[in-house]
Amino acid sequence: MAEKPLGIGIIGSGFIAHFHVRSWQSVRGADIVAVASRSAERARELGAYAENLGVGRDVRGHQDIAELVRDERVDAVWVLTPNHTRVQVIEQICAEVRSGRASLRGIAVEKPLGRNLAEARAVAEAVHATGIPHGYLENQVYAPRLTRTRELMWARGARRSGSPYLARCTEEHSGPHAQWFWDSEAQGGGVLNDLMCHSLEAGRFLLTPPGTDPDQWLRPVSVTATIASLRWGRDRYAAQLAQAYPGLQDYRHDPAEDYASATYTFVNGDGEPVIVEAMTSWGFIGSGMRLSFELLGPEYSMNSNSLRGDADVFFSGRLGDDPDAGAEEMLEKQNAEQGLIPVIADEPASYGYTAENAHLVRMFSAGQQPAESLDSGVSVTELLMAAYYAAETETVLRWPVDLAEYVPAVATRTWHPRGRRDRP
Ligand SMILES: NC(=O)c1ccc[n+]([C@@H]2O[C@H](COP(=O)([O-])OP(=O)(O)OC[C@H]3O[C@@H](n4cnc5c(N)ncnc54)[C@H](O)[C@@H]3O)[C@@H](O)[C@H]2O)c1
Repeated sequence: MAEKPLGIGIIGSGFIAHFHVRSWQSVRGADIVAVASRSAERARELGAYAENLGVGRDVRGHQDIAELVRDERVDAVWVLTPNHTRVQVIEQICAEVRSGRASLRGIAVEKPLGRNLAEARAVAEAVHATGIPHGYLENQVYAPRLTRTRELMWARGARRSGSPYLARCTEEHSGPHAQWFWDSEAQGGGVLNDLMCHSLEAGRFLLTPPGTDPDQWLRPVSVTATIASLRWGRDRYAAQLAQAYPGLQDYRHDPAEDYASATYTFVNGDGEPVIVEAMTSWGFIGSGMRLSFELLGPEYSMNSNSLRGDADVFFSGRLGDDPDAGAEEMLEKQNAEQGLIPVIADEPASYGYTAENAHLVRMFSAGQQPAESLDSGVSVTELLMAAYYAAETETVLRWPVDLAEYVPAVATRTWHPRGRRDRP
C-alpha cells in the first residue's frame, strides 16, 4: 500500500511561504496541511492559496506555533519567518518535540540560519538534540542551472583535466520587499547577510564534486571583503525608505550595506587552492533579479545568467502601468512594466525551490538526512561573519578564526561608512 503523504506545516505566511507553496505543484508525496501565522487572516489566505493550487489538504490555520507542531496531521515543518525570530521559533518547535507533546519527521529552515554565528549554532544544536532530520533551505544549490552544469563540469571537465578553481557568483536586485529586511538589527546586517549566503553556498557547491559535502571538500584559508552603502544612503533614496517604512533607522547616517563583495580562498580535497568570488547588491535596477554563476576549471568553464530567461516579451510604453497587476507579477524584483522583459516561465523551478522541496520530502519520508543540512547553514554563517569582520577591519582574515561572539557592526547599527557628509 502506498505510504500516506507527508503532512507539511508551514510556519510564516509571507513572501517566501507563497514561493514554497507554488513549488509544491511539482512535489510528490507531501501535502500542506497546516499554516501558522500571527494573523488568522493571513493563515487562511495562504491555506486557501495552497488548496486552490491543489497542494493543500484541508489546511488548518494556527496562530500559535506550538499548536501547529502538536497538530497530529503535521509530520514536518518549514520555518519561514523573519531572521530575528529564528532562534525563538526553533526553540518553540524543539521544546514541543523534546517534551513528547509532538513528533516530527523533519525540520526545514530558511536561510540564513541565524543573524550571527551564536544564533546559527543555537538553532542547529536545538534541532540536533531532537534527533530529527533537518534541512537548510538554500534553494540555489537545487537550481537546475547549477545542478546540471555542475554535473557536466565535473563529469566531462574535472575528470579529465582536474578540479575547478574559481567560482564567481552574484545576486543583485533593487532591494527587499519588507521593512524588517532593511532593519539591520532584525535582519542581522544588510545585503551581505541577506544575499551572500546564496552566492557563497552556490560557489562552494560548484567547486565541490557531486555527492561530496562542501564542508569535507573545501577548507577555508582566508577572506577579504568590502561592504558599502552606495544607493540607499543617498539623501533621495534614504528619504524614500523613511517614507515607505516609518520608524526605520535613518539610512543617511546608519545604513545597512547595499553592496558586498568577498573573495574566499579555500584548499580543496586535491590540495589545490580554489577561490569563491561572491558579489551581492541591493542597488541593481534592472528587469528582475540577476543571478549569475561562473565556474572555471583547467580545460572547461560554465556561465549562467538568470535574466537570459526562457523568453522575452515586449510591452509598448504607450500601455502605461497596469493598474491591476504590478511588475513583480511577471518576475520577482522586476522594476518595469514596459519594454523588453525577460520571462522565467517557472520561477519556483528555475530558482531551485521545486527540486529543494522534492528532495527534502523524499529524505524526510525515508527518515534520512538531506544533503544541505543545518550544519551547512552554520558553515555558511561562519563564512559570512568572517567576511563582515574582514570588511569592517579592512584586513585579510585567515583561518582558524573565532567568531563565536562576533556580531557585525552593521547589525548593532554602529557601522558608519566613511565619508558620510551629514552625521548628526
Ligand atoms: N530562499 C530565498 O531566496 C529567500 C527569499 C526570501 C526570503 N527568504 C527568507 O525567508 C524568511 C522569511 O522571509 P519573507 O520574505 O517571507 O518575509 P515576509 O516579511 O514576506 O514574511 C514573513 C512572515 O513571518 C511572519 N512574522 C513576522 N514576524 C514574526 C514573528 N515575530 N513571529 C512569527 N512570525 C512572524 C510575518 O507575519 C510573515 O507572515 C527570511 O528568513 C528570509 O531570509 C529566503
